[in-house]
Amino acid sequence: MKAIEIDDIHFAYPESDEILNGVSLDVKKGEFVSLVGQNGSGKTTLAKHFNGLLRPNKGKVIILGEDSKNFSIAELSRKVGHLFQNPENQIFEETVFSEVAFGPKNLGLSEVEIKERVDRVLKITRLSKYRDTHPLSLSGGEKQRLALASVSVMEPQILVLDEPTTGLDLLSIQGILDIVKELHNRNVTVFLITHDMGLVSELSERVVVMERGQIIGDGTPREIFANDELLTRASLEPPQIMKFSKMLGLNPEVKVDALYKRIVEAL
Ligand SMILES: Nc1ncnc2c1ncn2[C@@H]1O[C@H](COP(=O)(O)OP(=O)(O)O)[C@@H](O)[C@H]1O
Ligand SMILES: [Mg+2]
Repeated sequence: MKAIEIDDIHFAYPESDEILNGVSLDVKKGEFVSLVGQNGSGKTTLAKHFNGLLRPNKGKVIILGEDSKNFSIAELSRKVGHLFQNPENQIFEETVFSEVAFGPKNLGLSEVEIKERVDRVLKITRLSKYRDTHPLSLSGGEKQRLALASVSVMEPQILVLDEPTTGLDLLSIQGILDIVKELHNRNVTVFLITHDMGLVSELSERVVVMERGQIIGDGTPREIFANDELLTRASLEPPQIMKFSKMLGLNPEVKVDALYKRIVEAL
């Protein structure tokens, strides 16, 4: 089954020109897709259509086989978790535990179920020791992990990450990625918006490129990063790892592991 089916959607904000002009995109269940493109190309606008935060002026958004127009934002949010760039705006409660428990409480789960779910995601996000801490006293990376915990505790089948690592230090980025990888291993469909081509090449099976409200490229990281014309058009730089493998005179590799193997073979 498909996780997301977008069929020729058009969208304009009130009083804006058309921001999405005819976007079609299918994402398979369990796929890990990265969406890249210049600032203002429409990535966030597109992703907000997945959980009904925005509705298309024309065209269809089908989520897990059902037309999203028949569902409220609250209903869609159960299927599609959405992590935004600024976690501070998503913090409402006094302790880390109650922050993460907020969503499950609204689902009407029992106390026992809530505690089980919350404890599990706090463990995965390595926040268990902050259970009783005030969320606002956490560091930037910890707050982002908390936001991710609050999203994943709802067990959405689709996870949208809109520039989740922007402004974080390397260690925090690694923490976020470990969690995302773990969720993906559990067959969660991941849709990652990022400017970090290293992340794109390391993590995703598929890269979608946007430019001026349209999709101008769609392929594996290897295909996309080998397409110089496309990269220029979308102002994208290939990841360092690809440049490095070219410098070594090897076939272009997009993953550290793969390049390592090639180097060892060549020695
Ligand atoms: N709330 C809004 N009202 C009017 N225009 C907006 C709004 N949000 C974004 N835009 C415009 O829509 C375009 C696409 O923005 P966005 O989807 O945020 O792009 P990206 O995420 O790729 O940087 C930009 O030109 C931006 O200025
Ligand atoms: Mg954006």
